[in-house]
Amino acid sequence: MKCTKKITDSISWIGASDLRLDRFENIFPIPEGVSYNSYFIDDEKTAVFDTADVTVADQYIENLKASLGDKKLDYLIVLHMEPDHCSLIDKVVAMYPDVTVVGGKQTFVFMQQFFPEAASFNKLEVKEGDTLSTGAHTFHFVAAPMVHWPEVLFAYDDASKALFSADAFGTFGALQGGIFMDEYDYEKDFLDSARRYYANIVGKYGPQVQAVLKKAQGLDIQMILPLHGPVWRKDLNVLLDKYQKWSTYESEEDGVIVVYGSLYGHTRSAADAVCALLREKGAGNVRQVDVSGTDVSYLISEVWRCKKIVLMCPTYNGGIYPPMENFLSDMAALSVQNRVFALAQNGTWAPMSGKLMSDKLSGLKNCTVLENILTIKSALHEKDAEALNSFADAIVGV
Ligand code: FEO
Repeated sequence: MKCTKKITDSISWIGASDLRLDRFENIFPIPEGVSYNSYFIDDEKTAVFDTADVTVADQYIENLKASLGDKKLDYLIVLHMEPDHCSLIDKVVAMYPDVTVVGGKQTFVFMQQFFPEAASFNKLEVKEGDTLSTGAHTFHFVAAPMVHWPEVLFAYDDASKALFSADAFGTFGALQGGIFMDEYDYEKDFLDSARRYYANIVGKYGPQVQAVLKKAQGLDIQMILPLHGPVWRKDLNVLLDKYQKWSTYESEEDGVIVVYGSLYGHTRSAADAVCALLREKGAGNVRQVDVSGTDVSYLISEVWRCKKIVLMCPTYNGGIYPPMENFLSDMAALSVQNRVFALAQNGTWAPMSGKLMSDKLSGLKNCTVLENILTIKSALHEKDAEALNSFADAIVGV
């Protein structure tokens, strides 16, 4: 059965959601699913923005055929070549061989790497400042390099004042019947997924997001149509405020996330004590997470939310407890900035994970690592109460 949604009289969502896929990019768990958005322009000339992932091919093709009816497809506009939106390009062109595929110069290089037959596609190469008219709609192309692929284009439509924003402003989470974000409770239904999507997929590219946000300031944007998640037509300032914070590595709140690793429960017990003390001392929103039991993408999302990050783990094979080391590597890969770290190390004979974590964190820009490393010799006891207290004081006081 076709499932499409009207956005305006002449723009429809013809994408599909996937609730069966375990991991996006085979990396990030998505228990909430994901939508692959594609937009159909019903104008003097017909156009489609992007296709969808191969996992939803049947639904997508059904939606596309139903939307076109007996019209032909004139343009297939490709805003970037990542396969979650492009894996059906070959099938769409095979169905509509006269279609003109629209994209940037590098888009077509990548297209031919994925689909050698693209050499014979009808192509229209566009770049920043170029326009494409379908009749009532005129699309202005805006370059958004490295948000988060090199060849990304946005398109702004004069008629609807809609910004087709590729992956920017998208989110994990299948659509639940509604196409507009104002049909949902953003904070309850999508904010955590949107932050996790941003931090893990786009987080490294804050300066590039800033550059494109500046370009967007010059446009009268009334709607944002991303490639994942609902369309925004109201309260755009809420979304833009989040992007401003996230892309400048400013925390959303002054909260504390305590991430611990524990082999036998002793570091866990110490983390319990730290969290209790932090609450007593007025640290505000304190969350505690087991680094072993939590996919690193959720930890990264918490880093984008919180100002202060407490890392507590054993020394393992003379190094950092491996799941914690993975978390540290991911933070470095995503260019985490502007955070405060407090460290606790456990070791029965040679505790050194705190020093090693501090060394790894020293490469992060504008981050403070508190000097007072809490050392746990196997387990904390009453004699350690003073050290524990000053550890918590240092975190609250910074
Ligand atoms: Fe959703 Fe960059 O692809």
